[in-house]
Amino acid sequence: MSCSSLESLTRCSVAVDLGAARTRIYAKGAGLIVDQPSVVAMNTHSGTLIAVGQAAERMDGRTPQHIQVIRPVSGGHVVDIDMARRMVRALIGDKLRRFKRRRTMKQAVATVPHDADPLTCRAVIETLNGVGARHVELVEAPIAAAIGCGLPVVRPEGAMVLLCGTTTTQVAVVSLGAVVAAGTVALGGDTIQHSVVQYLRNRHELLLPSQEVRPLHLALLGNGVGGGSGGPVEVQGRDVVSGLARTVTIDPEEVRGAIPDPLTGLLDAIRVVLHRCPPDLVADLAERGMVLAGGTALLPGLADQLREHTGMAVQVAAEPDLCAVHGLAALMRAGVSAAEAVPVPEDSAAAQEEREVVGVPAAGPVGGAEALPEQEAG
Ligand SMILES: Nc1ncnc2c1ncn2[C@@H]1O[C@H](COP(=O)(O)OP(=O)(O)OP(=O)(O)O)[C@@H](O)[C@H]1O
Ligand SMILES: [Mg+2]
Repeated sequence: MSCSSLESLTRCSVAVDLGAARTRIYAKGAGLIVDQPSVVAMNTHSGTLIAVGQAAERMDGRTPQHIQVIRPVSGGHVVDIDMARRMVRALIGDKLRRFKRRRTMKQAVATVPHDADPLTCRAVIETLNGVGARHVELVEAPIAAAIGCGLPVVRPEGAMVLLCGTTTTQVAVVSLGAVVAAGTVALGGDTIQHSVVQYLRNRHELLLPSQEVRPLHLALLGNGVGGGSGGPVEVQGRDVVSGLARTVTIDPEEVRGAIPDPLTGLLDAIRVVLHRCPPDLVADLAERGMVLAGGTALLPGLADQLREHTGMAVQVAAEPDLCAVHGLAALMRAGVSAAEAVPVPEDSAAAQEEREVVGVPAAGPVGGAEALPEQEAG
């Protein structure tokens, strides 16, 4: 990965955070124009899109044979570039009409996971090229999230951010505008949901409707990860054998015992990342603690449990699921360097170096690709 300068980021006018669960798009002058589930529903006979975002998510599990519900982003990767393009295009719709959409989309910035390989980066770039972006800058998601949380990322001080996403949690220590040490653990909101679904299927022979899972896992987890205090919970589903609707009463304690403790994985990842950090940065972190970003940071009790087990201060960011896109927006506005950068003489070699670092690690701009012809959702 190379570094993109802050200057090239400020030239961007649209920021895209393509998440496995949700897609967020921020446009300069217009604000957050999209915050919708990353889902499309397609008519497999005609190949046309029937719905995107929330409307498509509501169809999940309720479709006739000729309608397919597709999630083009999975585990931080765009797995279906064509669908992702059509989804982004349909989600933006006419929201940029007032701003001359083609011009606004020309230069875009997007997040990629910290450990993204060139193929992952390429897929994000091609997706955005397909909706009119000729030039795409990439920023590592933990850096964007740290900026969005208001952490002092460009100072020579350590700051730890946990980006708790859908299927992964990225743990990163940032200093001087770059990731110093990081690790990713395969643990996120969906991982916990799947464990709950699997358990109910195996133990109670009950299949849950897809929409019910998150409310259920929250109910089961009660007031805290691994330590809720809720009473028995009634769950409705379909009997695996008979196929008929059935209600079972479940003891939350029994389910908690059966799903993997999300804390263990997170604590291991934090420990590994701290080991990779220079001692001076570890001292900063001991003082400052960590900030939780990403939707799963809202899991009840997660912050308390991390605080208890690490002895560090743990804060949940305001609107944790929007931190990454807010961070990109701040980079586009140059709101980061202005507020945080250590002042250095404008034309010195040091100033040059500082700008490079402040510019945040990225996969490097890839330009020159022509926008594909417009193809609106049907
Ligand atoms: N209030 C909540 N309590 C518990 N979990 C939540 C809550 N709100 C959202 N989540 C979980 O957060 C996850 C989505 O987080 P987020 O929006 O940060 O993901 P994403 O950016 O789309 O995905 P990723 O960055 O992993 O590709 C989902 O697994 C969802 O179940
Ligand atoms: Mg995300």
